[in-house]
Amino acid sequence: MAVGCWRSPLLLLTALALAATLGHFEGWKGFQEKPMSKKNMNSTLNFFIESYNNASNDTYLFQVDKLLRSQVQLTTGVEYLITVKISRTKCKRNEKKSQTCHFQSKKLKKSFICDFLIYTVPWMNFYELWNNSCLEG
Ligand SMILES: *[C@@H]1O[C@H](CO)[C@@H](O)[C@H](O)[C@H]1NC(C)=O
Ligand SMILES: *[C@@H]1O[C@H](CO)[C@@H](O)[C@H](O)[C@H]1NC(C)=O
Ligand SMILES: *[C@@H]1O[C@H](CO)[C@@H](O)[C@H](O)[C@H]1NC(C)=O
Ligand SMILES: *[C@@H]1O[C@H](CO)[C@@H](O)[C@H](O)[C@H]1NC(C)=O
Repeated sequence: MAVGCWRSPLLLLTALALAATLGHFEGWKGFQEKPMSKKNMNSTLNFFIESYNNASNDTYLFQVDKLLRSQVQLTTGVEYLITVKISRTKCKRNEKKSQTCHFQSKKLKKSFICDFLIYTVPWMNFYELWNNSCLEG
């Protein structure tokens, strides 16, 4: 489920080398608790929820309800380990999403707590969902 395109292999190599260098010099080890920029957060969460909805069999769309935790690790790209609460909305999954989708409030109310790992190369607009597990919550 890779979105985005590698515009040029050379650019990719440059990017990877740069990331490796940065990673080396900043001495990142494992995941760190770190606030994400709003912009990165938006696109990362949007990518996640779109993947989730794509794979879902639910009649309704889910949306991110609350960001619970985000950790980041710099490797050849940026890996985000994120915990979110997602909830069922009133928008049907197979309808064009035109209006804002409000969360279900009555019988159909449903939420999951999801842990997922997303690999991104932000400066190339590349996202890949590596891990995802959701528990009813
Ligand atoms: C993030 O997304 C929300 C809703 O989709 C939007 O209102 C907001 O402007 C976005 N912020 C950034 C920094 O992209
Ligand atoms: C979701 O599905 C649409 C239509 O098949 C596709 O264009 C899009 O890339 C998918 N999104 C993700 C994040 O997999
Ligand atoms: C959707 O349904 C298929 C077939 O019943 C099942 O294998 C799959 O796990 C379901 N996906 C989700 C996200 O529940
Ligand atoms: C990712 O998957 C591995 C192996 O399936 C598992 O051990 C790990 O806990 C998962 N991580 C997350 C964040 O779900």
